Amino acid sequence: MPTIVIVGAGPGLGLSIGKVFGRNGFTVALIARDQAKLDALAAQLREHDIDAAGFAADIMDRPSLVDAFDRIKQRYGAIDVLEYSPAPHNPVPGITMTGPLEASVDNLQPQIDFYLHGAVTATQQVLTAMLDRGAGTLLYTTGASSVHPNPMMGNVGPAAAALRNWVLSLHQALAGTGVYAAHVPLNVWIGTGGPDTEPATIAELYWTLHAKRGDAEHLYTTPA
Ligand SMILES: NC(=O)c1ccc[n+]([C@@H]2O[C@H](COP(=O)([O-])OP(=O)(O)OC[C@H]3O[C@@H](n4cnc5c(N)ncnc54)[C@H](OP(=O)(O)O)[C@@H]3O)[C@@H](O)[C@H]2O)c1
Repeated sequence: MPTIVIVGAGPGLGLSIGKVFGRNGFTVALIARDQAKLDALAAQLREHDIDAAGFAADIMDRPSLVDAFDRIKQRYGAIDVLEYSPAPHNPVPGITMTGPLEASVDNLQPQIDFYLHGAVTATQQVLTAMLDRGAGTLLYTTGASSVHPNPMMGNVGPAAAALRNWVLSLHQALAGTGVYAAHVPLNVWIGTGGPDTEPATIAELYWTLHAKRGDAEHLYTTPA
């Protein structure tokens, strides 16, 4: 069975992506910090006959993230899809949201750890094996401020933009290898504005990207 690892798996988008890939025959490995919450999400997926399990790790603690991937590989073997979409809905030490005037090295560094360094670390755990097999999908999610600067996201945007920049160049470097990388900036507040903002709807895009591939970036926005 192919396996997807969802890094930053919560009850919103993470769970919905798990459902979509599980419905399409994938085993689902979930990473977030709280094992009990992950166990509850995995139980929800198993109710849909999806093989799923949680592997607790903190993306700000890179050795714990590496260890979670080691445990996933021990249990499920090869990883076919990596999806990276953490969100600090629960407090993450060091993560604060500031405007551009208040941005500082001290409040930018944790944002860069959260977006860029976490994503690079997760990717390093799967990329060599994907290149050896000549197959794999790497999907990275951010908000619209990664593309369109927004003063409300004065220190989040630059870090998410750094992740975006790396993914877009990764996409180019992977051409012809069989491994596909794409960035998905979401220009919506999830679950707050009708069916197109529902995580279940948004998650379908991730399956389409994996199945059909295509461009380096897919901005998700709701119809006007
Ligand atoms: N929600 C929105 O309106 C919105 C808008 C635009 C873009 N997005 C993007 O959508 C994605 C998130 O979707 P969602 O909002 O529905 O969230 P979700 O999938 O429901 O949950 C994300 C999960 O990330 C986990 N997380 C946070 N910090 C972590 C850490 N340090 N290490 C490991 N895991 C961590 C949290 O679990 P723990 O706290 O248990 O670790 C949280 O449950 C993100 O890529 C975000 O940029 C969201």
